[in-house]
Amino acid sequence: MRAEPVAQRGDVRDGLLLRDGQGGPGVAGEQRSSAALAADQPQIVIVANRGPRDFVWEHSAWVARPASGGLVSMLAPLARQPGVVWFCCVSEPPDALHAQQGLFTTAADQMDDQLHVRPIPLPAEIYHAYYGQISNEVLWMLQHRVIGSNGFELLDEQRHRAWTDGYLETNRRVAAAIQRSCASVRAFLVQDYHLYPLPSLLRAAFPETPILHFTHIPFPDTSVLKLLPSGWREEILKGLLGADVVGLQTVSDVQAFLGSCAEFMNADIDAERSAVRADDGRSVAVRVYPASVDPHELEGTMQSAPVAVARGRLAPQTGELRIIRVDRLDPSKNQRNGFLAFGRLLEMRPDLRPHARFFAYLIPSRTDLNIYRAYRDTLYETIAEINARYSADCGGPPITVFYQNDSEQALAAMESCDVILVNSLHDGMNLVAKEWALLSRRPGVLVASETTGVASEASGSALLVSPLDVEGTAHAMAQAIDMPDAERIARLDRFRERVLHWTAQDWLSTQLRDLGVTSARGGSDR
Ligand code: G6P
Repeated sequence: MRAEPVAQRGDVRDGLLLRDGQGGPGVAGEQRSSAALAADQPQIVIVANRGPRDFVWEHSAWVARPASGGLVSMLAPLARQPGVVWFCCVSEPPDALHAQQGLFTTAADQMDDQLHVRPIPLPAEIYHAYYGQISNEVLWMLQHRVIGSNGFELLDEQRHRAWTDGYLETNRRVAAAIQRSCASVRAFLVQDYHLYPLPSLLRAAFPETPILHFTHIPFPDTSVLKLLPSGWREEILKGLLGADVVGLQTVSDVQAFLGSCAEFMNADIDAERSAVRADDGRSVAVRVYPASVDPHELEGTMQSAPVAVARGRLAPQTGELRIIRVDRLDPSKNQRNGFLAFGRLLEMRPDLRPHARFFAYLIPSRTDLNIYRAYRDTLYETIAEINARYSADCGGPPITVFYQNDSEQALAAMESCDVILVNSLHDGMNLVAKEWALLSRRPGVLVASETTGVASEASGSALLVSPLDVEGTAHAMAQAIDMPDAERIARLDRFRERVLHWTAQDWLSTQLRDLGVTSARGGSDR
């Protein structure tokens, strides 16, 4: 099976896209030739639920921020190039209350000359069913294995309606909006679990255009996918098989996808070439493209004024041992077990009480959903208990939470921490671990759960734990704190090398090469 990243480092060094003539025929190129394009037509179309900007309500006004998350950071450089457009979904119009509680955007807010954004407005009710009730409360929870009362629990009549009238309907509307505004397109890059049915809808409308779908979160194996009704999972797989290339984060995700196609679609699998035969006879390539970070952009950010201010504000006190975590507040991130492990560390190591501090940089996420609000309440209770128990011995509360989306502050914290904890239940990649690898100066130690996407790249560097093993995580934290400097440096260097070997630029240019696209505008593809 061919499930490793397709390009090696060095394929693309002097531009985001391969220059004309440099790329091979590409996976899609093996099957079809591209159509001639009108000059005013977009060449590359990105389709994602989320647009490149968030609008947050601050001091009685909307403030525009680059949206957080790997998807936006990895695609924005492409989106700034001429000939690239980005279709995204927006809830329109948001009602006043929701607009302030959640991070709703409006179609007008998403307009941006530089980013070539084309928002697709959806009635708030349809958007909520598609994004909140299905994408977040079912697919996100299922794919991160948050199954049960604090996650994906059951599918009632309302949820079935949300699937049909929200999720499938939105995918149909997105396909129709693209079809209305684009006569011909050179390649589609479709993003994530919100848009599984879209590739096959686009295939029907643009039979000759190469399509790649990339899923940023883990792909469930067959036993987990069986928790969805058979009709739903068939829609998901049929939709994805409309693409020429199905892109996933890890080798296990590829195996899970191939296994699902064999078991649920009765499809022919070419394990050697890591490909699936679709109903219409096309061969669909299934590839690993691990998400990564952009070292140059990160370097620039670290020299910015906001990071300098945060650095000054967060400077560790003498003798302090700093454990941090940086992630969205989400049950899949498993923050509670992380805090419980820290509490256990303080219990078993009284000598650490005056020094060890846990700083949690938690990014507010999907605050309009009950699951998220309930998880936040549980977390805060756990933190309050641990702080109450150890405040006296520690000389103050040992856990501090920063509940805000302040990426500069989080990056400054990564630079100077002794330990960083990334203990998701199950996760796509966890780019925060890769950011930390490039930034750590102290040097720090990464404690990661084996179920994170980054675990295989971090093996031999990180201390790996089970996400449910609170006791084991406490011991790993202790081991990290006690680790001699020479070992810390060796572990960090190893991981840093790997991260530099496969960056966000590789992630993107390899996908484009596999689609047979060698430049964003003009030039011959193959
Ligand atoms: C994953 C991806 C992100 C993506 C997100 C959707 O975490 O890695 O990059 O944006 O899912 O999250 P959202 O906040 O848009 O619901």
